[in-house]
Amino acid sequence: MEKKKLQKTAAVHLVCAQKLNSKGWSAEESHYIGEKAGQEADYCILPYPRLRVVVFYPQKIEDEAARLEKIRRVAAEVLSVLRKEKTGAVEVDGTAWRNEEDVLAFMEGLYLSSYVFDEFKTEKASGVEISLKANPAVHKKLARTQILCHEVNRCKYLVDLPFTALNASGLAKWAKKDASKSGISVKSWTKAELEKMGMGGLWGVNKGSVDAPSFTMMEYWPAKPKNKKPVVLVGKGVVFDAGGMNIKTGNYMEDMKTDMAGAALAMAVVRTVAQLKLPLHVVALLPSTDNRLNGNALVCGDIIKMYDGTTVEITNTDAEGRLLLADAVAYAQKNLNPALVVSMATLTGAASRALGSEGIAAMQEKADRYVPCLLQAGEYTHERLCFFPMWKEYEKELESEVADMKNCGKGAAGMITAAKFVGHFTQAPFLHLDVAGVEFLHKRDAYRGPGATGFGIRLMVRFLENCAL
Ligand code: BES
Ligand code: MN
Ligand code: ZN
Repeated sequence: MEKKKLQKTAAVHLVCAQKLNSKGWSAEESHYIGEKAGQEADYCILPYPRLRVVVFYPQKIEDEAARLEKIRRVAAEVLSVLRKEKTGAVEVDGTAWRNEEDVLAFMEGLYLSSYVFDEFKTEKASGVEISLKANPAVHKKLARTQILCHEVNRCKYLVDLPFTALNASGLAKWAKKDASKSGISVKSWTKAELEKMGMGGLWGVNKGSVDAPSFTMMEYWPAKPKNKKPVVLVGKGVVFDAGGMNIKTGNYMEDMKTDMAGAALAMAVVRTVAQLKLPLHVVALLPSTDNRLNGNALVCGDIIKMYDGTTVEITNTDAEGRLLLADAVAYAQKNLNPALVVSMATLTGAASRALGSEGIAAMQEKADRYVPCLLQAGEYTHERLCFFPMWKEYEKELESEVADMKNCGKGAAGMITAAKFVGHFTQAPFLHLDVAGVEFLHKRDAYRGPGATGFGIRLMVRFLENCAL
């Protein structure tokens, strides 16, 4: 992914509007900058003799989370202006901003919006080199921002890859890549092993595919973890969701290469935790297959047996994600003694209809003690979540006459019945993040998109760093 380099360098000065005179600008420039500051512009541009951008501190926004988000968004706008000017390198001078987190938010906005998916373009986008001048304390923290943003962008790349470039075995390969370098151990099971283990959910969905399924475990287990039992992240890895026999119609299939976003998120969170050397024992479980159809595909009325022995009547083959997640969650329950199981998945259109692209539809059982800290991490990273209830009455939707459960309710509160299905397979505290709707944007929104967003990684890393487990 070597990008061709452009020569032009631009300087970006992060300044405070009240203290402008110290930078060595000409009288004319100072006048212009002062005028822009007076108009409450977010930034202004000095084109000659070389390109410089002056970014004003958003001092009026007192709420920290809102200010950080404003700064990320301004950074994205500045980068888009500089890209149009064919800038090849951006040198940020952050010495005038007092609060380290503000400078880091600016860098985060730049790194995240520097991502371009041009793998299949003949004409490649040009790369932009980003550097920062700041005090040593900020520089130390910058390493964290760089690792985190690199992982977000890597996740976006995997989600953006079309199915033909990333099938279930491909996903397992990406999970192995560079893992041992940061102390992550990876284990993958073959199709035959999975059948022997009785992973009936994964097997059932994979039945209509010409490609093998995969199931991968990534584990980071440092010497002295703070948590006695692991946090297990389970990511939905449906590399393409055609719907199976309940085939998707209209344009509902269009974006279904993104249906492995949950797996890509879980992978990125573990990789980030490991590279930051956080003292946490974390595991990612990545069940993966496509949901296509051929003569062998699962049909409605079929009854399958899950990893834990539960029998499931299939009433809709397009409710496939919960089947793989359930097997993985049951695997965690049986073999890993988890402190907390977190499932991450593009699971339901209902989640996307409820919140659009602004937040994650979250649900939990026995995990209420994590909720305040999660909400706070959501505000801080602007990867917000909204909790829906998991009342036991919703379980009625999944009652079957012929098996232990049905895989699909009638449709109302779809994100909840889906979560109920997955939650059935563990007794551990359970947190479910339905990221359908936030994982992919057709249009750019500041530092997110167009395309995959990696939404949820910054949230979960902040949660793991800051919340008592
Ligand atoms: N992968 C889809 C959910 C989805 C929809 C993700 C839109 C991203 C954007 C999932 O497998 C699915 O098909 N869900 C169905 C479930 C239904 C059959 C109960 C849905 O939500 O329509
Ligand atoms: Mn589906
Ligand atoms: Zn799906």
